[in-house]
Formats: sequence, structure tokens, C-alpha cells
Amino acid sequence: MYKLKKRGFRILKIFHLLAVCCWFGGAASMLLLNLKSSVAVSEGVLYGINTASHLIDTWVIAAFGALGCIITGIMYGIFTTWGFFKHKWIIGKWVITAAALTTAILFLGPAVETMLELSSELGTDALHNQAYLAVKSSHLYVSLLQIALYALMIILSVIKPWGKTGKNPAPTRGKVKTP
Ligand code: HEM
Repeated sequence: MYKLKKRGFRILKIFHLLAVCCWFGGAASMLLLNLKSSVAVSEGVLYGINTASHLIDTWVIAAFGALGCIITGIMYGIFTTWGFFKHKWIIGKWVITAAALTTAILFLGPAVETMLELSSELGTDALHNQAYLAVKSSHLYVSLLQIALYALMIILSVIKPWGKTGKNPAPTRGKVKTP
């Protein structure tokens, strides 16, 4: 299988890190919007905040962040010697990415949709509605969990712990810039 040379490898890393920025930045922005929405002074402000969250969720997080990380992650597996299962930290990243994606699909997306719908129906009364408040707090906790998972992945990517898989595991930490 064709393997990327130094230039191609760098380009792949640039796209990978851009996607990482979108995923992490998107989740952090949604968390702040969630906190800020508690003090929305008018229907328009609350609806605007929820519309912004919805846009961030759809475009920044799902389309560029998550999809970008997965596509570049697959490209690392195929077109570089990092592979898919040669290093334990890479397997760890796949597992954590799957966990982050599953919680985002199951909880974050539906919560954003529900908050948008309820705030358009109820206006600022949504801030006193039990259903809205329940969804808003689950959105807050899941956003925090997502941010913690991304931070963990960034730490794993830099430290590259646990060595290689296979018979003679050798630590990769700090050894290589390119595989
Ligand atoms: C989808 C699964 C993923 C795979 C298979 C994967 C794989 C990789 C690989 C092979 C590298 C290159 C390491 C190097 O050349 O030093 C890398 C770099 C990196 N990845 Fe991922 N990644 C994935 C998702 C993520 C996610 C979701 C994040 C953070 C939210 C992330 C954060 C980073 C960072 C910060 C680096 C740069 C590390 C450095 O230059 O020292 N990755 N990733």
C-alpha cells in the first residue's frame, strides 16, 4: 500500500489538527452558549443562542470536526506506517472517538434539537419549563464529558503511551516524529 512521504504526512497532520480544533472548539462553544442561555433576556436572544448551538453542532462539530477526525484517522491507518492496530495509544484513540461520537449522536444532537424547538414554542418561559431545563442540564453534562474525552485524546496523542501491540512491544514515547 502507498505510504505518504514527509510532505503528504505533514498535510495530513494539518487537516487532522484542523478537524481536532473544530471538534474541541465546537464542544467548548456549545458549553458556553448553554451557560449563557440561562440569562437570556428575551425570546429572540434565547432562540438565537439555541440556533447558534444547532449550527455549531451540525457544521463545526459533526461535519468538520467528527467527520474530519474520522477521515484523517482512517488515512493515518491506511497511508502511514502508524497503522490501525500497531500502537496501543491509537487503538485507545479509536475507542475514545467511538465513545465521544456515540454520546454526541445519542444525547447532544437530540438535546440541541429539543432546546431549539422548545425555545421557539415557549420563548423565555422555556427557562422555567421542566422539560427544557432537564434537556439543558443533560446537554451541559454531556458537553463537559465530550471536552474531557477530547482533552484525553490530545494527551494520548502527545504522550503516545503503552508502546506497540504484538510480541515485542517497544515504547513509542518521544521516539519518532514521523512513523
Ligand atoms: C479518529 C481516530 C483518530 C486516529 C486514528 C488518530 C490518529 C492520529 C495519528 C496517527 C497522529 C499522528 C501522530 C504523530 O505523527 O505524532 C495523530 C495526531 C494527533 N491527534 Fe489524532 N487521531 C484520531 C482522532 C483524534 C481526536 C478526536 C483528537 C482530539 C480531539 C486527536 C488529537 C490529535 C493531536 C493533538 C495530534 C498531534 C500530536 C502530535 O503532533 O504530537 N486525534 N492522531
